[in-house]
Amino acid sequence: MEVEHAISGRKSIRKFTSQPVPKETLKKILELAARAPSAENTQPWEFFVIAGEVLDKIRAANIEKVRNHELPPEEMHHILVERPKGSVYRQRQVEIGKQLFNLMDIAREDTVKRAAWTERGFRYFDAPAAIIIVAEKTLPIPGSFLDVGAVMQNICLAALDAGLYTCIENQGITYSDVLRKHAHIPDSKRLMAAIAIGYPDWDFPANKVQSQREPIDNMITWCGI
Ligand SMILES: Cc1cc2nc3c(=O)[nH]c(=O)nc-3n(C[C@H](O)[C@H](O)[C@H](O)COP(=O)(O)O)c2cc1C
Repeated sequence: MEVEHAISGRKSIRKFTSQPVPKETLKKILELAARAPSAENTQPWEFFVIAGEVLDKIRAANIEKVRNHELPPEEMHHILVERPKGSVYRQRQVEIGKQLFNLMDIAREDTVKRAAWTERGFRYFDAPAAIIIVAEKTLPIPGSFLDVGAVMQNICLAALDAGLYTCIENQGITYSDVLRKHAHIPDSKRLMAAIAIGYPDWDFPANKVQSQREPIDNMITWCGI
């Protein structure tokens, strides 16, 4: 697959079919993705690949916590940060939410449908597999987060080549205690990202979303060119 096609064809998928993804395919994707660059080739990423009964137990435990309005453990509080009100970041966040809710026919005031929508992320969008990226807690945060970002994008692109789609999701690592318990992730590892992966259900309305991007001229400052 051409790079241009892969980059522009990647999109977040929020409902997958139940078709399982072979272990060999997942391994190939991770092997290719791990060609990502990292500072001084430190390769801080490690992967917990979760499927089957273990993933089902994690989904159920997450949902129980969501329904009980449980706060995540303190180690995950950084993902709860809100974008500043009135900022362009907040506007973009609201915009993608509106697009998804329109497609799903969820009215702003419909608390039941909104709650059901929120739960989907905590169920890994019913994907047959989820990849949890972790890094040693002893590694400095800014550097390891950058390296993990590179491998994360590579996973999404390598998945496309195998006919698979993904959704990177903070929701999937919110309840780190659940993942530590069921996937045996040691306390010494920091949970960095979750990626739901599988074959997309194209009949699901939200999967038709096309997220917008700021015109590139608004993002570039040219210097000396
Ligand atoms: C670090 C990170 C965390 C994300 N967390 C979530 C999440 O918890 N739930 C969700 O539905 N999407 C999540 N997303 C997906 C973004 O909403 C999505 O990438 C963005 O809206 C752009 O859409 P696209 O991926 O289809 O281009 C996350 C993406 C990133 C990079």
